[in-house]
Amino acid sequence: MSASSDQTASRFTVPEVTARKGGTPLVTLTAYTAPMARLLDPHVDILLVGDSVGMVLYGMDTTLSVDLTMMINHAKAVMRGSRQACVVVDMPFGTYEESPQQAFQNAARLMRETGCAAVKLEGGEEMAETVSFLTKRGIPVMGHVGLMPQQVQALGGFKAQGKDDQSAHQVIEDATAIAGAGAFSLVIEGVMEPVARKVTEIVKIPTIGIGASPACDGQVLVTEDILGLFAAFKPKFVKRYTDLSDDVSNAVASYAEEVRQRQFPDADHCFGMTQKNT
Ligand code: KIV
Repeated sequence: MSASSDQTASRFTVPEVTARKGGTPLVTLTAYTAPMARLLDPHVDILLVGDSVGMVLYGMDTTLSVDLTMMINHAKAVMRGSRQACVVVDMPFGTYEESPQQAFQNAARLMRETGCAAVKLEGGEEMAETVSFLTKRGIPVMGHVGLMPQQVQALGGFKAQGKDDQSAHQVIEDATAIAGAGAFSLVIEGVMEPVARKVTEIVKIPTIGIGASPACDGQVLVTEDILGLFAAFKPKFVKRYTDLSDDVSNAVASYAEEVRQRQFPDADHCFGMTQKNT
């Protein structure tokens, strides 16, 4: 058995994710790079290579400009950096909405070139046919309903969903349609607690909440949000477990000062230094 198939064999699998419905909550975080994946991997069930990479790493205002090549490159890095997590990769805007065939071509490329376990795509009832097309052809799909960031322009902002009866009804219809189409799990983003609770009761696959209350079968957050490394804005549902931005600022300020004072590099960090620099 090759090293890479060894690795695949020890990873948390798509059926194992689905089997966690109603059990120990699924721990999910985003990852975009190999070093971060290495740090997160021992602690999580799922690593999501989210299209949030566009906003978090590239400074974009929305996720709409993220393309397939970016996702493939970041997914390859996350696969290299992880050993046990189930790696799921977002399909970026414009790579799956046109037709089930377009979705299949791009999802197959994502899986073939990265070795990831599954893809995630946003959408409700209107995407059910596509989810069914993919899952029947061997592509595991994680759904994403509620607040769908790829629809930010249509929504007029990143707005919580399910606040009135009509919106709540739509989220429930969307979730039911995507689960019925064969998705193996479902992200629910930015919805009122009673709606998340109802969806979690109704669908037979695990729900993974982000701003959707503890009623879900698991939780996902953007890693840089919990580490205090994404300062553009902080949604209500984000809990900062630490603020690494202060540590980074302090470390960089010390480096800059030592370079300017010729204190760095010192003898410990040089080859064959014979005299002190002044
Ligand atoms: O792109 C992303 O990171 C996501 C999660 C926040 C759910 O879709």
